[in-house]
Amino acid sequence: MEESKNTLYSAVQPTNNLTIGNYLGAIKNWVALQDDYNCFYAIANMHSITVRQNPAELRQRTLSLLALYIACGVDPEKCTLYLQSHVPAHAELCWVLNTFTYVGEMERMTQFKDKSAKHADNINMGLMDYPVLMAADILLYQASVVPIGKDQTQHLEIARDIAQRFNNAYTPTFTVPEGVYLKIAASIRDLLNPDKKMSKSAENVNGSVFLSDDKDTVMRKFKRAVTDSDATIKYDPENKPGVSNLLSIYSVFTDKTIAEAEKQFAGLGYGEFKLAVGEVVADKLAPIQSEQAKLLADKAYLDKVLKEGAERAAYTANKTLSKVYKKIGFYQI
Ligand code: TYM
Repeated sequence: MEESKNTLYSAVQPTNNLTIGNYLGAIKNWVALQDDYNCFYAIANMHSITVRQNPAELRQRTLSLLALYIACGVDPEKCTLYLQSHVPAHAELCWVLNTFTYVGEMERMTQFKDKSAKHADNINMGLMDYPVLMAADILLYQASVVPIGKDQTQHLEIARDIAQRFNNAYTPTFTVPEGVYLKIAASIRDLLNPDKKMSKSAENVNGSVFLSDDKDTVMRKFKRAVTDSDATIKYDPENKPGVSNLLSIYSVFTDKTIAEAEKQFAGLGYGEFKLAVGEVVADKLAPIQSEQAKLLADKAYLDKVLKEGAERAAYTANKTLSKVYKKIGFYQI
């Protein structure tokens, strides 16, 4: 970890199983960026509880997500991997930032509106405050770069607004972060309903490919993927969202350009095309799954990664928190 490098921050919630959307839109990019930045990658369990969780499952999914990060190629020697709830500064800064955030802004957040509709029996304050906690995550580490999928754009914008608001009210305190999006994979679509993003919590699991899916399941899901009646394999997200999504998935998993993928599939029927995409995905997932299983069998190692990660994260986070407390006039001894 070199001080001279810029800082990068990102996180995933340990909620449900991760999809290839999470992998392609976020984690794959984390691996690509880990040599160039001082990286903090968190497991956002405090965000997860904004929707009711089964405690035993949440605990198990936490380790499972950590093992997945490492299995995907995120290196704990190069990056700080940690659990959000292990660093109390997140909740503490969130409280301060709440006083720089307006209720109207939070009510307008698309994700808040969607989740309120989905969980109408539990529209809790945490659900509404979710973006402020996310701002606290990012700002604590003075991150300049935040690799995320398109669905998090609004949250990143509010984090920038809050940072600027605080900086203007006092003196420059927070780095104002920039979102980094992958050109092709910033929004992987649901296989059955390409108008929607692929989601961990989709009602129909057949539209989402989970990183834990075995080959048969992956192939079955791709076979059923919705295409169109035009029968040409061409990238045109507006008019051919299903086919374009499949081309995106193929291209990112194989590190080929869209043009190369189109050329390769030119003249092929949709049936064969879908099988070829499924095949590549299943073959890429298999080694990640077996590495994850191996890591999960070594709980002592995973605990050690979390412990060291929390110490490193807390060191940086507490430095920022202390600056903030000083500026706002909290008496410190
Ligand atoms: P989460 O857990 O919903 O998703 C994790 C990451 O996956 C991206 N993603 C996608 N990318 C492309 N296509 C998709 N279909 C797709 N679905 C999800 C998300 O954009 C995200 O980058 N609030 C965050 C977690 C978080 C966070 C943070 C992120 C907490 N604190 C600070 C960045 C910085 C979330 O719920 O992500």
